[in-house]
Amino acid sequence: MELLPLLDAQNAEPLYSQLYRHIRGEIEAGRLRAGSRLPSVRKLAAHLGISRTPVEDAYQQLLAEGYAESKPRSGITVGAYEPDFGRTSPRAVTDLARKERDIVPQSACYHPPTASIDSALSVHAGERSDPIDFSYGDVDLSHFPFPLWKKLLGSCFLPEHRDLFRYGDPLGETGFREALSDYAYRARAVVCPPERIVVGAGTHHSTEQICRLLQRTTYSPGHTAFAVEQSMSDGIAAIMRQHGYTLAPLRLEPDGIRIEDLYDSGARIVYTTPSHQFPHGMVMSIGKRRRLLNWAADVGGLIVEDDYDGEFRYAGLPIPSLQGLDAAANCVAYMGTFSRALAPAFRLSYAALPPALADAARAALHPFDRLASPLHQKTLELFMTGGHMQRHIRKMRSVYQRKMAALLAAVKRQLEPRFRVSGGSAGLHVLLEPTEGGRDEAQLIRLADEAGVRVYPASVYRIVPEPGDGTAVLLGFGGLDERQIEEGIRRLASSWIG
Ligand SMILES: Cc1ncc(COP(=O)(O)O)c(C=O)c1O
Repeated sequence: MELLPLLDAQNAEPLYSQLYRHIRGEIEAGRLRAGSRLPSVRKLAAHLGISRTPVEDAYQQLLAEGYAESKPRSGITVGAYEPDFGRTSPRAVTDLARKERDIVPQSACYHPPTASIDSALSVHAGERSDPIDFSYGDVDLSHFPFPLWKKLLGSCFLPEHRDLFRYGDPLGETGFREALSDYAYRARAVVCPPERIVVGAGTHHSTEQICRLLQRTTYSPGHTAFAVEQSMSDGIAAIMRQHGYTLAPLRLEPDGIRIEDLYDSGARIVYTTPSHQFPHGMVMSIGKRRRLLNWAADVGGLIVEDDYDGEFRYAGLPIPSLQGLDAAANCVAYMGTFSRALAPAFRLSYAALPPALADAARAALHPFDRLASPLHQKTLELFMTGGHMQRHIRKMRSVYQRKMAALLAAVKRQLEPRFRVSGGSAGLHVLLEPTEGGRDEAQLIRLADEAGVRVYPASVYRIVPEPGDGTAVLLGFGGLDERQIEEGIRRLASSWIG
């Protein structure tokens, strides 16, 4: 038997957790190899002289995080753990990346792709000369299942899949919408039949579609106000404005938007990011979700829920989507994207629509709405129906959780109490803000840049700028590894605090 953890029944840490940590450590250290079989629950419990329950619980946790896999006839085996460090050799910074360092960033979202891929694939930026880019929007590609994706995509290149080489259905491919309906229910408790799902080429496209469709429903005529969180994605705000909506900003509280502001706004449509407010990072409480749904019922309103990174929640109990709490299923238009859970380059998103909007979509979506490639849709459908998506999310959740933990620990050690961090319970970014006045956002960004770190302004997301804005900076960490994150915070601390 390979497993000999030192378990201490007197320890405050439960036995299952001690056992889980031990096995995880063995896997991370490479002593338990991918594919090797873990002892059965019965055998391990007998071997350790403990009951089966803690062994079962430890295995469940390892399975959930992707450290172990359960296969028919093979029992539980060690998963394909790929350490974050040492996968690729350090690479020279390209001229382009150097040039980009000299540009003061405007928004963290629209980052030139070359540098994004650089930072996602290059691993050790330990050298002072390598800029560490806390760009928002990068994801960790070192865990992307490239060979599997290639195989699934390859399986589309067969004569019987000739249809995938056409423009496709403006609503999205039927099989993909069926798979989405199932996935959204399992992953985010979204309850929506495939007939009410519309595929888009990213959330921005889905938002654009919803803005257009709204004008064909009773929500919109005569109601051109879109109530929105006081800070929000600048791209999504621009799309709403282009469609003639005026934005009514709602103040943010620690548990989400101020519902009183929503009633006062007179709007009948509201856009919100309840699972992880963008950019501030708060999670809307269950109580407030219910009040928001009550508002929609009271005024006959529509809630547009943008769940851009809801898969990645690290603290507390998982909170289902608002859409899933809407028992009547008629007042939430839910938008999900694969830009965070997979990678932005697939340009795939979906909207789960209430009946009125779904009818409008069937009647009014245009051939130009066929922006999401049927080939990518099919590949992702196969990825989802093969059970790979859930596994990938589980793995990425634990990868990002470790990165977030590294970031929060480094901030605590090196920047607190002079700086405060917010938004650390979910997603792939946080905000950092000085606790005392003195430095504004522009100064913080410039000092960081001089120290070889790129951080981004948060004030650009404010709908109506106010005096006193502009003190927080946004740090995305999805494309950085733990060493880069720690080194980046160390550089920030020596530059900002000295
Ligand atoms: C609030 C918000 N929603 C959605 C997205 C994802 O957009 P897309 O799906 O177009 O990549 C982002 C990322 O920039 C975002 O900040």
